[in-house]
Amino acid sequence: MAKQIPVYVCSKCDAQSPKWSGRCSVCDAWGSISKDPVIPGPEEPAAKSAPGDIKTFAGLDQTQQALHEPTGFDLMDLILGGGLVKGSVVLLAGEPGMGKSTLLSQLALLMSRQKKILYITGEESPYQVQLRLSRLNLGLTENLFFLNDTRAEVIISTLEKETPQLTIIDSIQSISTDNVPGEAGSLSQVKAGAALLTQAAKKFNTTLVMVGQVTKDGDIAGPRALEHLVDTVLSLEGERMHRFRILRAIKNRFGSTDQTVLLDMDDKGLRIVSDPSEALLEGRAANTCGSAIGCLLEGRRPLLVELQALVTSAGYSSPVRRATGLDSSRLNMLLAVLTRHAGVMVYDKDVFANAAGGLEVKDPAADLALAAAIASAVNKKPLEPKTAYFGEVGLTGELRPVALPDLRIKEFKRMGFTKVICPKIKNIKAQDIQVIQCETIKQALN
Ligand SMILES: Nc1ncnc2c1ncn2[C@@H]1O[C@H](COP(=O)(O)OP(=O)(O)OP(=O)(O)O)[C@@H](O)[C@H]1O
Ligand SMILES: [Mg+2]
Repeated sequence: MAKQIPVYVCSKCDAQSPKWSGRCSVCDAWGSISKDPVIPGPEEPAAKSAPGDIKTFAGLDQTQQALHEPTGFDLMDLILGGGLVKGSVVLLAGEPGMGKSTLLSQLALLMSRQKKILYITGEESPYQVQLRLSRLNLGLTENLFFLNDTRAEVIISTLEKETPQLTIIDSIQSISTDNVPGEAGSLSQVKAGAALLTQAAKKFNTTLVMVGQVTKDGDIAGPRALEHLVDTVLSLEGERMHRFRILRAIKNRFGSTDQTVLLDMDDKGLRIVSDPSEALLEGRAANTCGSAIGCLLEGRRPLLVELQALVTSAGYSSPVRRATGLDSSRLNMLLAVLTRHAGVMVYDKDVFANAAGGLEVKDPAADLALAAAIASAVNKKPLEPKTAYFGEVGLTGELRPVALPDLRIKEFKRMGFTKVICPKIKNIKAQDIQVIQCETIKQALN
């Protein structure tokens, strides 16, 4: 048998190297490589096992198919396509302070009216969690238990003994296991802990909801590494200082990922915003320069959003360009197109752009509205208040079609707009609103 060579393992990223060093060459962390090398176990040839038993799908009992069980929490039922599937594993990902613990506390409180719930308080003390539960004012029941332990093995034994119907782990980054080396929160610990708990959830038929912390800079030991392991990945997004959040399903083995919900957060927790466009347009000042209304699609849902621009002279210094809730490279591209193809001169101007309401705008259909807002700010002329814009802007100044134009026009109509400026649309459905189709950004802005 070949001799096993000792290796040095980084506790931050799990990279292995044959030599010790003070700094990991993969993740650049200092002092993360342990002084004691790990000696890998002997590689044994796999024993030949007996063949498995194959069956036809047609012969499977259909009544055993996964069924959604309503949770009693409207926004979770909506996003999950009817409720939680028994024995399934859900990962709730989000940046710090987004409201993940709040959302799961609401779920725990509402579900505990009928079912036994276990809350693993890994990140916060039970008192902190209790404080939040009381603040949410949904009534504490005798069915909601907690376990203040972060060892995966202890949690698994508890699941076997207590058989709760729902187990909440807040968060997976706080869980550790003896099976692998490294500190809690390192990639190997997070992956191994999640794999063990997922297996246990299936075995003991408890539904598992895990919180996954996401950091702004891509995160090393985060939800990305767990997406393949779990059945459903939900993401809670937004700007921490704003009240709106978006909850979306990124992956769902038991339903569609079309659904997204706009949520409003206050001290009583998260609530569905019944009319997202109205809420997002609230507080808009009429007749101001540098403001235009655009339309985004979140899943299949159109959302109207105000795009704002402030343009000032850069003087003799190099111009500043800042985007909030928008992609800054997209803003730079739009500024170049506006200068080159629409005669809107911004090369010597500071430009600040913002998507009002704290949303993260990713839909390229917002391009035209943002361009209109910038042009309005440069020309110091307000846009017509009942006119709205959508369309992607290309590098040659052309307006490109975007997905589901009819849905967007219908939403503008519903919110009281009388005119829409957009790219050429094939087979547009007649709606009671003036639709001006343009080929170029120059035409659209004129
Ligand atoms: N008493 C309060 N009243 C209103 N809002 C509060 C109160 N306490 C906390 N919040 C809000 O709740 C947010 C934190 O929510 P929560 O703890 O659920 O987030 P989280 O995503 O679990 O954060 P973390 O990543 O730190 O665990 C805060 O950013 C704050 O806006
Ligand atoms: Mg939390």
